[in-house]
Amino acid sequence: MKRVVIALAILLAPLIVSAEDATPAAATAATAKAGDAFTGSDPTAAAAKAATCFACHGAGGNGGVNPAWPKLAGQHSAYIYGQLSAFKCGTLPADQRAAAKCTDVRVNAVMAGQVAALSDQDMRDLAAYFASQKPVPGLGKKDSVAVAEKLYRAGDASRGLPACSACHGPSGAGNSAAQFPRLGGQNTDYAVNELKLYRSCATSNFQGCERGGAGKAQMMSTVAGKLSDAEIDALAGYLTGLQ
Ligand code: HEC
Ligand code: HEC
Repeated sequence: MKRVVIALAILLAPLIVSAEDATPAAATAATAKAGDAFTGSDPTAAAAKAATCFACHGAGGNGGVNPAWPKLAGQHSAYIYGQLSAFKCGTLPADQRAAAKCTDVRVNAVMAGQVAALSDQDMRDLAAYFASQKPVPGLGKKDSVAVAEKLYRAGDASRGLPACSACHGPSGAGNSAAQFPRLGGQNTDYAVNELKLYRSCATSNFQGCERGGAGKAQMMSTVAGKLSDAEIDALAGYLTGLQ
């Protein structure tokens, strides 16, 4: 009996997926998940709080408001929680960051205002909420492929550049446990900004930069420090189309 049920579930799975794709409303509907694996939060707990975030991150976190602002839908909850913490750290004077156990710091005036009023539980609930939202695919830039695909999939050993896919996955899905963010479908303009922020942290030796630190961000600064402007543009245009 069990086998029959499993076989049925496998047969039905593609049907369920395509039925969801056919309904635009499904894009913003929370997928039923009882308790987020990382935060332990109920993904629906923050649905009301998340409405303030939609003003900039779009309905369900799927963007559309400004291409320089990130999509949050389907992003890993551990990563979202980590970034909200980093924005909070970014509001502290530099000499207070160690006491607050800040490893990575993001300094951004807009998000500083948003995180100020959030408790630790709010951040967990919001992370679980956005992680549970179905990401809508993006449209990549075709002329990016020539430069970007090789770097994304293979890196460039001659200058010690690792493949992006080694951490972010071949389809840009990221890795939840390692806090490697999902990149597939992310806005191109946003990704360009972030890669340049990471790069400036590498070249400034993490002094006074806006997205860096000795934790996870350092991995990306090391990578971005090896990229040219043209490569950053191409990679950012390419990852928007990954799925
Ligand atoms: C007024 C516009 C605005 C509002 C409202 C807003 N954000 Fe943001 N958010 C931004 C911008 C701009 C960035 C990019 C900042 C940067 O480049 O560092 C961002 C970045 C983020 C990121 C980092 C995403 C990534 O991929 O690294 C997270 C997480 C986030 N916001 C969560 C939230 C949450 C949760 C709320 C609601 C409580 C919210 N934001 C409300 C503008 C906004
Ligand atoms: C060694 C693992 C690793 C490799 C290789 C790597 N990344 Fe990352 N990437 C990370 C981590 C970890 C973060 C999150 C860092 C943080 O917390 O700020 C990240 C963040 C990013 C972000 C910001 C995402 C967001 O939502 O703000 C972009 C864009 C990105 N990486 C692009 C790339 C590209 C393009 C490459 C290849 C040239 C690459 N990464 C290679 C680990 C990696």
